[in-house]
Amino acid sequence: MVKSTGTAQLKLGDKTIDLPMYTPTLGPDVVDIGKLYAQADVFTYDPGFTSTAACESAITYIDGDKGELLYRGYPIEQLADESHFLEVCYLLLFGNLPNKAEMEDFEFRVTNHTMVHEQMHQFFRGFRRDSHPMATMVGVVGAMSAFYHDSLDINDPWQREVAAIRMIAKLPTIAAMAFKYSVGQPFVYPKNSLAYAENFLHMCFSVPAADYKVNPILSKAMDRIMMLHADHEQNASTSTVRLAGSSGANPFACIAAGIACLWGPAHGGANQACLEMLREIGTVDRIPEFIARAKDKNDPFRLMGFGHRVYKNFDPRATVMKESADEVLELMGIHNNPTLQVAKELERIALEDEYFISKKLYPNVDFYSGIILDAMGFPTSMFTPIFALSRTVGWISQWKEMIGDPTQKIGRPRQLYVGESYRDYVPVEKR
Ligand code: CMC
Repeated sequence: MVKSTGTAQLKLGDKTIDLPMYTPTLGPDVVDIGKLYAQADVFTYDPGFTSTAACESAITYIDGDKGELLYRGYPIEQLADESHFLEVCYLLLFGNLPNKAEMEDFEFRVTNHTMVHEQMHQFFRGFRRDSHPMATMVGVVGAMSAFYHDSLDINDPWQREVAAIRMIAKLPTIAAMAFKYSVGQPFVYPKNSLAYAENFLHMCFSVPAADYKVNPILSKAMDRIMMLHADHEQNASTSTVRLAGSSGANPFACIAAGIACLWGPAHGGANQACLEMLREIGTVDRIPEFIARAKDKNDPFRLMGFGHRVYKNFDPRATVMKESADEVLELMGIHNNPTLQVAKELERIALEDEYFISKKLYPNVDFYSGIILDAMGFPTSMFTPIFALSRTVGWISQWKEMIGDPTQKIGRPRQLYVGESYRDYVPVEKR
């Protein structure tokens, strides 16, 4: 626990309450209200957690005003240029960049866990062919608890690590299987001679009837997508994983909970929603209509791929993603298809429009990732599963950090109750 570096005073009527304050290594000071209820008989109220730090963490830092994202202190731009996904996984999980021997050992361990239990193939076949791959993933990842009994004891650090390695290794296999199942093609086994992102693309796009070689530009772009999505501090799905884990639930169940939360269109589901919106707009001349709808307070429509709770300047992931988008589109010979035209024009208008400027609504990571994944040949339904497999390492690192903290206790928010105060039961014949 960090040491108190000051005191804040809260005045409640004629009572003054002293609240300890902490100074983080980066970011705003924090007022500790943990004992407020015991001291003053009041709760605090912060729906959406806009001002509440729910935990102490040393993994990821975001400065929303500067547009900065650091994994264990390293800026995302440097990692995207110089590192690779498995090295980033090691960094997030263990806190430091690995030396050569540590990296080789980690790669060996992940690579040797990529296959799923053969019986899981049967489990997949229970889903309807037209199931959304996210629905399949929520079910299959949750079901891992039924297949890997030897890594369920959360009090054993070794079992925690095995569960972490298993999930990092198997999520691409599970996501690729969900994809293959949805398109009616045979499952492709992982190939341990391939690098992590390359192996994922191979499992998605190869078929037994033909040879398939992954283009290195595409595997590099996929590896970058994975790095950029690997962690994002206490967002909705990560907080879900922490809350689920705080009860002592097993790691596979917690990650399944995170996947379920990520699916929503305000979070990871935005990449699918964004591309579908671009297609719905269809042509550049229809953009003003959609911009007008986004501004209309009586219309629930929002421009997907724009805005962020924390970034109020720009999303640094989007800047890197845009570079990758250019490379992939060039490689695929996509220069001016209608979706891309709409995307470019929408980006231009939104960046110049007073509404978007004043509300600090910039294109976020999901605006560009969908364009790249579409160009690679993925259907929109696979966009969020790719986000999920990339974020798994972040979820598991945050879960591991929480479980390893001896002061951790079950997450249990309070409420502002606005229901009936008291009423006596009335038998049905008297109602
Ligand atoms: N289009 C139009 N208006 C918007 C948008 C948008 N995309 N986003 C926010 N606003 C407006 C909103 O109507 C509100 O206006 P007012 O103050 O007049 O009521 C104001 O901006 C603030 O919005 P908010 O909902 O209070 O902001 P938030 O921090 O709760 O929401 C957000 C953040 C990401 C959920 C939201 O910007 C959004 O729904 N964006 C579209 C979905 C999206 O792209 N999500 C992906 C986020 S990045 C990947 C990830 O982390 O999962």
